[in-house]
Amino acid sequence: AGAPAIRKVLPASWFIDYGTNAEMRWESVDPQRYRTPQARLFVRNHTATPTIDPADYRLRVFGDGLRDPVGRSFDLRELRRRFRTVEVTAVHECTGNGRSFFASQQRATVSGTPWTLGAVGTVTWQGVRLRDVLAAAGLRPDAVSIQATGLDAPYVDKGVDHGRVRRPFPVAKALDDALLAWGANGRPLLPDHGYPLRLVLPGWIGIASVKWLGSLEVATTELTSPWNTRWYNVDGPLTVNPVRSAWELPWAASLPAGRRVTLTGRSWSGAAPIARVDVSTDGGATWSRARLHPARGRGWTQWTHTWHRPAAGAHELLARATDAHGRSQPDVAAVNPNGYFFDAVVRHPVTVG
Ligand code: MTE
Repeated sequence: AGAPAIRKVLPASWFIDYGTNAEMRWESVDPQRYRTPQARLFVRNHTATPTIDPADYRLRVFGDGLRDPVGRSFDLRELRRRFRTVEVTAVHECTGNGRSFFASQQRATVSGTPWTLGAVGTVTWQGVRLRDVLAAAGLRPDAVSIQATGLDAPYVDKGVDHGRVRRPFPVAKALDDALLAWGANGRPLLPDHGYPLRLVLPGWIGIASVKWLGSLEVATTELTSPWNTRWYNVDGPLTVNPVRSAWELPWAASLPAGRRVTLTGRSWSGAAPIARVDVSTDGGATWSRARLHPARGRGWTQWTHTWHRPAAGAHELLARATDAHGRSQPDVAAVNPNGYFFDAVVRHPVTVG
């Protein structure tokens, strides 16, 4: 039986609850607090959160990409003692974040969890470098692909058993910045977030960061799974997250009339730091630059905008970020059947007065 999901015992005011999934409400975000507490981090599960006894836990690493294909297993003690502990601060985000705006802003029909913009957080992960563990497991120089498989129950959809949640990724990403994480923000992972060990591929779409990591198959040929061919694929497997922005306001928001109101928000990109954020308080007629606060690591960028003499009535707030690679947010996102990568500027409704 799956452990009760943490979101079920938390205040509804923190989340929008979609059953097996839960989304952070932006109005529950503390503007003073950079990191997203695990208790408020969105949850995205294909099945149910499993109960795993850390004493029995083993990570199995095997495959023809190792000098000995039989491979070996690591328990948590060995992982923690043998390898250097590292910390990585990064945005953690589901690629379907913003999906509901395909329907509400673009009148496009797509399937999947109808997230608004809360399937995202910034987390400081604690763990070990995957490259260190692969070296200890005897990685061969001609290995190209690694399949990560979770210990949660097989995913059955409309009577079809697709097997355990699993997704391959290139060895190059493993050697670059992939992490095997046991902690988030200095605490052990909560059950919903992958306890006792999860993979973290910084900057990549959420499905790449397999929770309750059971095994890593290392191969000299390209591996595939339904999670990179059938789902999370638009003309090829999706990898790096796009640029997105959100106002730290309820949906819809009510603001008091007055001389000025200070608005805050956050922008992020899977590829590079945020270089600028343009905001509009009149539905896109005029724009100004938001004041950016420095990002930490690969986390999001917080920003502030002072709105002078907002007129009473209904308005739309817009924010458009651009990252250091020049990637920005379009007015209209590219439509795809499963509603991934909604990166368009979101029109946030606000009433003043
Ligand atoms: N890993 C396993 N084993 N099972 C899952 O259902 N969901 C993935 C990914 N890893 C999933 C998984 C998806 S789609 C996302 S967006 C992230 O985990 C969500 O991580 P979180 O619930 O810790 O926020």
